[in-house]
Amino acid sequence: MRAATNSIVTSSPRKLIFDCDPGVDDAVALLLAFSSPELDLLGVTTVAGNVSAALTARNACIVREIAGATGVPVIAGCTKPLVREPVEAGHFHGVSGLGSLPVFTPQRGAEIGHAVEFLIETLREAAPGEITLVVTGPMTNVAAALQSQPGIAVAIREIVVMGGARSEGGNITASAEYNIYADPHAAKVVVESGCPLVMFGLDVTHQVRATPARIAALRALGSSRALAAAQLLQFSTDLPENGPREQGAPLHDPCPIAWLLAPEAFEFRACHIDIETQSKLTLGHTAVEFRPQPGRVMHARWGVRADAARVFALLEERLR
Ligand code: BDR
Ligand code: CA
Repeated sequence: MRAATNSIVTSSPRKLIFDCDPGVDDAVALLLAFSSPELDLLGVTTVAGNVSAALTARNACIVREIAGATGVPVIAGCTKPLVREPVEAGHFHGVSGLGSLPVFTPQRGAEIGHAVEFLIETLREAAPGEITLVVTGPMTNVAAALQSQPGIAVAIREIVVMGGARSEGGNITASAEYNIYADPHAAKVVVESGCPLVMFGLDVTHQVRATPARIAALRALGSSRALAAAQLLQFSTDLPENGPREQGAPLHDPCPIAWLLAPEAFEFRACHIDIETQSKLTLGHTAVEFRPQPGRVMHARWGVRADAARVFALLEERLR
């Protein structure tokens, strides 16, 4: 297990692997990442989650093509969680996983190879603290890589996660948020790895809402990527499950990427995090403890506040 440390190596642009399950909000996060030169996107790894592993890989390739980022490899990963049966979230993302966005066969598909192998090889070759991982789906790929080769943790600068819930309660059960619920055993491996964690749970992502006015502002930009983002967000905001349309759907997955680009838009509290894997009732609950625990290093930060206007200004700036 690795002791929590601050960043060891900083390079500009930041070297990043983006692990996701697109997913409408993952897709918007990808558009933002592909449009941001401060990020050196080494690869996009995909995992079964919102929809099947085959669809999440295809969707990442579609979004890559829309963004014109064909140089970034997409590598498909785990087809099911570590232990539990798969739980998809198609009702939030549509049958394709991309809401009402027209899907097509991308010109370039996913690479040959497996996401877990890509993670292991890339981290093994990296310098200590060189690579940031962003995870916006179930953490199966990252957990499988850490379980197989624990030594790779040293290369991880921090793991920036969309997942978990505390004050807001869950969005799939009373106490669990989807990404953690979908693979709680993987989340447990990741939070116990000792890697520095930056967590964007529902407490913070529910503060960043895709209101009709914000979607209209994106649409007005007229670029292919802004139009795609507007269509994806419109799908989420139109879903009754996401609350009244005027309030707008929460913008979950773009938050970690937005933080990498505009850290001042978010506030955090240092904490310990544990994941519930035993109880049927609270499976996937994130136990967030702000009080110091004797003998335990606090290696996590929990998002508590977001400047939604800043996040949407960033999206507009990058997708125009
Ligand atoms: C998370 O669940 C998924 O459905 C979204 O893509 C996001 O990552 C929000 O709970
Ligand atoms: Ca996701």
